[in-house]
Amino acid sequence: MEQGLTYQRRTHYCNEPRAEHIGQELLVKGWVHFRRDHGGLIFIDLRDRTGLLQIVFDPEAMEPEQFAKAHDVRAEYVLAVCGTLRERPAGMLNSKMDTGDVELLITRFEILNQSKPTPFKLDDHHGKVGEDIRLKYRYLDLRRPEIQKNIIMRSQLMKVSRDYLHAQGFLDIDTPILTKSTPEGARDFLVPSRMEEGAFYALPQSPQLFKQSLMIAGYDKYYQIARCFRDEDFRANRQPEFTQIDIEMSFITPEDMYVVIEGLMASIFSELKGVEIPTPFRRMSYADAMLKYGSDKPDLRFGMEIHDVTDVFREGCEFQVFKALLEKPGNVIRALCVTGGAEKYSNTQLKPGGELPEYAAIYGAKGLAWFKVGADGPDSTIKKFFADATLQNLQGALEAKEGDLILIVAGAEQMAAEALGALRLKLGKDLGMIDPDALEFTWIENFPLVNWNANEKRWDPTHHPFTAPRAEDLPLLDTDPGKALSWAYDLALNGEEIGGGSIRIHQPEVQRKCFEMIGIGPEEAERKFGFLLDALSYGAPPHGGIAMGLDRILMIILGVHSIREVIPFPKTQTGACLMTEAPSPVDPTQLRDLRLRIVERQKA
Ligand code: AMO
Repeated sequence: MEQGLTYQRRTHYCNEPRAEHIGQELLVKGWVHFRRDHGGLIFIDLRDRTGLLQIVFDPEAMEPEQFAKAHDVRAEYVLAVCGTLRERPAGMLNSKMDTGDVELLITRFEILNQSKPTPFKLDDHHGKVGEDIRLKYRYLDLRRPEIQKNIIMRSQLMKVSRDYLHAQGFLDIDTPILTKSTPEGARDFLVPSRMEEGAFYALPQSPQLFKQSLMIAGYDKYYQIARCFRDEDFRANRQPEFTQIDIEMSFITPEDMYVVIEGLMASIFSELKGVEIPTPFRRMSYADAMLKYGSDKPDLRFGMEIHDVTDVFREGCEFQVFKALLEKPGNVIRALCVTGGAEKYSNTQLKPGGELPEYAAIYGAKGLAWFKVGADGPDSTIKKFFADATLQNLQGALEAKEGDLILIVAGAEQMAAEALGALRLKLGKDLGMIDPDALEFTWIENFPLVNWNANEKRWDPTHHPFTAPRAEDLPLLDTDPGKALSWAYDLALNGEEIGGGSIRIHQPEVQRKCFEMIGIGPEEAERKFGFLLDALSYGAPPHGGIAMGLDRILMIILGVHSIREVIPFPKTQTGACLMTEAPSPVDPTQLRDLRLRIVERQKA
């Protein structure tokens, strides 16, 4: 019996043949990417993971029944083809293809499998295809060279990270997925236990407590490319299941951590993007970031800093809105100056209900005051409420020039910062101020240890409850917790938080105190974190760590706008996997084994 081609080993991947192989007999396997039937001749772009190769079916070169079969071939059929590599005829070279100088003249081929017509064309730009259909048929979507590129780079990112961390003496240690709640500020995904009735595992929001346990166990330099699970409401650039490059080290200060991560980022960007990023990265305090950029992950690819102009309006201001606000403590007036913005924004866009005030309103701003700077200084519909000197001071504080636009938000500090921060980003984008190729890293340090949760009337940890307070701020835990700073650090890149970590609490009594401060009493602390408190009392070394958001780093490297483009099998905004249709109802016997019952929601 003739040996078919199905299980014969291919000689080359599609993207391998080059001029030096001309005249050789090749056996190549792959998918029909694109097919052109020119009557006498059939041309196919054959595709595999590596790229495309043009193959030619010519009745002169093959048996008639083989050629007849070539007419049946359709897009996405799987072929094994044998033939002779030849130079493409003059004028037919394709510089867009790596293999564009050659083509394979087929002598023999087999259809290894057929394909139904695909729900969307794989050789088209996906912009035209709805994302839901792409995710439902993700195995087809992943075939497209455009997305394959992202997935291959994901693999490279993992390899570069592993190579770098191994070279630095880190150990790759895995930690459990079925575990106990690790608080990172989101809801847990729970897994019911069959063996222990009424008890649940939680999927890890991060490996936080395990990596700390590994430090206590003496493993010193740990890393893991870790999957994390967080049941939180949809926000851009978040997935309920995402990947961290998770790191922990003993006997370190933040400086040691910065050096490791700056080296890691430099290797990643050099190997994957071919750019040398300057280190060390700049550093900024949380307070400065909030003041100047209205964000704890500032986009530093452009300026347009926010200024506090509260004091400017303490005198020579009859504007009732500002006057009333300034009578109450805690309110601020902040402003930004849009260079050349006076002409770019019309009074209609600026008046109440206009584009810019409406945008600021999303972030809680009750209004947006504005001035256009003319030859005679700042001018506006509200100019009459201000003394000339006040407006001069305003212009001076912002270093505004003729033709600039000044935008002002007044109110509670957090709101004013966030509203102007968001407006700054919008204006930066709208006015084309952002260089898409720029890479602006910054460490953010000196975060407050806790922040006040007005709804629950308690202090919440700014990072997580295992973050160490700065030693000099320990006394503040009893007197003024809101003023205590932590030993946490975040890394921001181009306005995204790409990593965060801290030096940890390593003394059980400090950990107990911090739990208590955030409303976790001794009993609850024992129940939820007894093992940690116990472990800390057996010679825990001082330690610290960080977790880098692998998906977000990849998004930035690839310049894509959705985190779903860089995750092989992502979830939708409602947490669904459209391909497998998870989450989905389960068999009643499974529920019975777990002693669970679904209770229908009462209609309101
Ligand atoms: P944190 O919660 O800041 O820290 O997470 C670290 C980094 O992970 C990324 N990230 C996400 N990426 C995609 N989807 C999400 N839902 C998501 N949530 C977070 C971000 C973030 O900076 N255990 C601590 C780290 C530590 O203290 O060592 C932690 O998980 O880029």
